Amino acid sequence: MRIVKIENLKSGLILAEPIFNREGDLELLSRGIRLTDRHIALLKKLDVDHVRIVDEIEELDEEYTNEELLESIVVSNEEEQKQFEKFVEDLEDLEDSHYKSHIRNAVNKQMEINVLTGEGNVPIDVKHKEMVEDTKLVFESLKDSNEIDISKIKSGLKSALPDMIRNSDVLMRLKQLEEGDDYTFEHSLRVAILAANVGKWLGYNDRQLEDLSQAALLFDIGKLKFPEFILKSTKKFTGKEFEIIKKHAQFSYSILLKTRGINSDVKFGVLHHHERIDGSGYPFRIKGNQIHEYAKIIMVCDTFDAMTNDRPYKKKVSPFQAAEFIAWNSGSIFDPKICYVFLSNLSEHYMGKKVLLNTGEEGTVAYVDTNLPNRPIVKVGERMIDLVKEKDVQIVALL
Ligand SMILES: [Fe+2]
Repeated sequence: MRIVKIENLKSGLILAEPIFNREGDLELLSRGIRLTDRHIALLKKLDVDHVRIVDEIEELDEEYTNEELLESIVVSNEEEQKQFEKFVEDLEDLEDSHYKSHIRNAVNKQMEINVLTGEGNVPIDVKHKEMVEDTKLVFESLKDSNEIDISKIKSGLKSALPDMIRNSDVLMRLKQLEEGDDYTFEHSLRVAILAANVGKWLGYNDRQLEDLSQAALLFDIGKLKFPEFILKSTKKFTGKEFEIIKKHAQFSYSILLKTRGINSDVKFGVLHHHERIDGSGYPFRIKGNQIHEYAKIIMVCDTFDAMTNDRPYKKKVSPFQAAEFIAWNSGSIFDPKICYVFLSNLSEHYMGKKVLLNTGEEGTVAYVDTNLPNRPIVKVGERMIDLVKEKDVQIVALL
């Protein structure tokens, strides 16, 4: 392994360590990835000074054992010790063998793109609110059990789905959902709404929409098996802590495997939600069409919602900045078809939105170029600011 300065990087070199975003909560480039010119441009954009490179791919074979990973967790009181011991038990229970055999059976659906639009903005209806309450109970029950009441989730989603996708102005719908202190739960609800809308834009039928929204509601439930003091930590994760957190996708899948009545499309949508199109994701490093389409949708919606909401250790960015990140990574992290459907449909609702620029000025989106939907023309007073030309100007908030 050697350290290489960014200016000396060449495409084809292999990363020995992952690269995170500035906040440290999103792995942008994984360990083991073969760098391309596009990756090197991204590293320069992130002001990374140097990276570690492996000379032989065999060097990557050393993986941390569970014992090594667990050593990195520091408990500071009795309650944390109790949570930690319970987690060690759950981790031992998580046998690799029971899900690895399922990976080759993944069925990837190629859906026809059928871009639909909806009506105007409507209030959240009572069925949707009931579904939210039921889901909260199901999530809470996971603290003491390893199974979920899937019938509650299924019936809740069935009745809430029309409301979740009725309002095609998803940005306003997400703004309507209050932010509380239960991030995993609220994030899952928002991802389910986003994903259901992407399913609608892709022309999914009712059964597919129900399955997709189930997967998008349950993809992160494995996180509920982690000690709260790790999940709610306001510190940046260390490498080993991040490796432990990565196990949540298998935990989520394992919970679904133990629950009767969940179909395999939903399970694969959950299991694959951190894989990446270029094979740099986890847990299996599968790529392209080996990844279930539901997971491809969830990974876009998961990233978009995580970036556009505040966390204890990072400030949110505007939907425009998050959309730009997704567009930038289309074809490497994210599936290009899903990116296109997601970004083009979202951008239909940018027109007329009030926005705050990084210059401190407020303006209104006056024109959206469909080829560059994340860099619209913004009217500030009598001035028109073209964000395609004014590269330093950014939309930092939707007002
Ligand atoms: Fe996740």
